[in-house]
Amino acid sequence: MEVVVLPGSGAMGTAAADAVEALLHDKPDAVLGLATGSSPLPVYDELARRHTSERLEFSSASAFTLDEYVGLSAGHPQSYREVIRREFTNRVDIDPDRVHGPDGGATDIPAACAAYERAMVSAGGVDLQLLGVGTDGHLAFNEPTSSLASRTRIKTLTEQTRKDNARFFDHPDEVPGHVITQGLGTIMEARHVILLAAGGQKAEAVRDLVEGPVAARCPASLLQFHSHATILVDEAAASALKLADYYRYTYDHKPAWQGL
Ligand code: GLP
Repeated sequence: MEVVVLPGSGAMGTAAADAVEALLHDKPDAVLGLATGSSPLPVYDELARRHTSERLEFSSASAFTLDEYVGLSAGHPQSYREVIRREFTNRVDIDPDRVHGPDGGATDIPAACAAYERAMVSAGGVDLQLLGVGTDGHLAFNEPTSSLASRTRIKTLTEQTRKDNARFFDHPDEVPGHVITQGLGTIMEARHVILLAAGGQKAEAVRDLVEGPVAARCPASLLQFHSHATILVDEAAASALKLADYYRYTYDHKPAWQGL
């Protein structure tokens, strides 16, 4: 696990966008794993800017989103399908037919989850997965005590997550109670994961995921078992890390050729 403490969201967005750009340079038909929430927005802004100003191309790439609310009407502005379209995929030249998300409107949810897993496998698996983290340590919508081996399935949100996400809806009661999410086992199969966390409200979750025990109580701590996990944090999110100076020293002395 590499922890990189950066001055703010702009620098985090640039660092993650550099990794996406390097991947697309080596593999134009890369499979990107896209996350919703506010954490990845600086990455999407920077990638959209590079697409417009520097001709960074996504025309051969494909993408899979992490999760989706169950029961929102098709086209609901807060469905993650719409959010990802608005915040990222509509702003670059990725083929909309190659942007996939779990089907929150499926009548047979287990079948839809199994189909989603199969689609990821037939696309060759995710090359680079962007992630945020919930204040309770959740990853995608894998809430605390999720099986560390879980696959795509339906989950019930905690009251805390519904509260955290209420800001995106007109009324807190509108936040669905159920979601479909890639499992922790699914996310672990991505070849590189980049998790972004900014702000003091994420400090405890970041401490637990980086320096705590690997435990289903903090689903994101499973990333300690990933062979290529990058954790990008700002100073506030890093404020509870005991080894922050070591992470800073390591990053400052990293060979330039290494990348993230
Ligand atoms: C939601 C998403 C997660 C995201 C989390 C944190 O619950 N399902 O993928 O990581 O929110 O969101 P934010 O980045 O807005 O803090």
